[in-house]
Amino acid sequence: MSKSNWLFIAFILYAMHLFIFPPASSAGHLEPFKHSPFPQNNPQTPEKVELGKMLFFDRRLSGDGTMSCATCHIPELGLSDGQAISLSYPTTKNWRNSPTLINVAFSKFLFHDGRAETLEDQALFPMMSSFEMNQNLDFVEEEIRSVPEYLKRFNEVFGSDDITRERMAMAIAAFERTLISRNAPLDSYLNDNMDALSPEAKTGYEIFTGKGKCTECHYNINLSDDKFHALNVPEHPEFQTDPRVAATRRFVAKLNHYEDFRNLQEDPGRYLITKDKNDWRAFKTPTLRDIAKTGPYMHNGVFETLEDVIDFLDQGGGPGNAVLKPLHLNGAEKRALKVFMVEALSGDDIIMHTPKIP
Ligand code: HEC
Ligand code: HEC
Repeated sequence: MSKSNWLFIAFILYAMHLFIFPPASSAGHLEPFKHSPFPQNNPQTPEKVELGKMLFFDRRLSGDGTMSCATCHIPELGLSDGQAISLSYPTTKNWRNSPTLINVAFSKFLFHDGRAETLEDQALFPMMSSFEMNQNLDFVEEEIRSVPEYLKRFNEVFGSDDITRERMAMAIAAFERTLISRNAPLDSYLNDNMDALSPEAKTGYEIFTGKGKCTECHYNINLSDDKFHALNVPEHPEFQTDPRVAATRRFVAKLNHYEDFRNLQEDPGRYLITKDKNDWRAFKTPTLRDIAKTGPYMHNGVFETLEDVIDFLDQGGGPGNAVLKPLHLNGAEKRALKVFMVEALSGDDIIMHTPKIP
């Protein structure tokens, strides 16, 4: 990437962090955006980003050499994979939806249950996961080391050709931090460009920040409070009883020391990490940036369309939840809300050339 591109990104980051989504009158709290997307212990360089991009697209990262990170985080699909529940290692089945990686640099917690907090930590999980890339980290280090081009690049980036999982993760994380939503009309609108939104999107904006109470949870740069809420989203009927999904569910629960894992019928969400009963079936508030590109929606992709999501929220969420109330939106209001999300939150397409893998 050229120097002017870097300056541009730096400028965008700076400009974006000035925008704090205005609260609805009923919204609880607003926190200024605090997290610098660039950690001091992993400085961003163009060479590191390029190396990270190569690794992101390299199928050597999976056990049988069939999958790269980009298999489930596809650039054209907003870095998600378009499936309700994500793809998985051959013969196994995943249990959750692949989230977008757009603006992931700004997320305080990673995964639907927030079990990782830095991109450097996160990157090794899918490689190790039996139902994702099913790779052995000692082995992948040796596989990458056997490629002269990688040796050369690790040398350039890290000052020695020592190829470790930590360095691989650092490079991948640096690449992920360049996946930024740019030029979304919302940013322009919040910067006093009143023509940035169509009249219907403006109506949707008013509902989003007012009657719809969306900004109680969707605010800040990513339209997320970085918190976990139990909306009681239904299980996906197609997958709840799928024996392979059930095996994955029991396996993850067992890894997380959930005692009754054999009888588990649903996704416990954040509870698996905290063991706090208030977190039962709570999931991270996801970013809404580029939401038009990242369906199906929710942690298990149970909703195919934004209309489905809006209907679910309008009825006050799932049975027994303590966080949402019915909104009583009429048809025109629901449509405007959708137009707002599709129009205002869509940034430029992320155009990416698949790198040449050595
Ligand atoms: C087989 C599909 C698959 C592959 C391959 C895969 N991912 Fe993912 N990714 C997912 C799913 C599914 C989740 C959500 C899992 C969860 O919440 O438990 C996820 C979550 C993430 C997140 C967290 C995003 C957020 O907003 O919380 C990041 C970052 C990420 N993946 C990066 C990567 C990287 C880097 C690689 C390659 C090393 C990779 N993924 C490979 C399916 C995949
Ligand atoms: C109490 C907090 C809260 C409120 C209020 C709220 N949301 Fe959400 N929203 C969430 C959480 C948590 C999820 C993820 C649930 C899951 O994955 O199961 C979510 C998911 C979504 C999704 C799906 C995103 C994806 O990538 O799958 C959309 C779209 C959405 N909300 C829009 C809205 C709109 C529009 C409103 C207002 C009508 C609203 N939300 C109000 C917390 C909230």
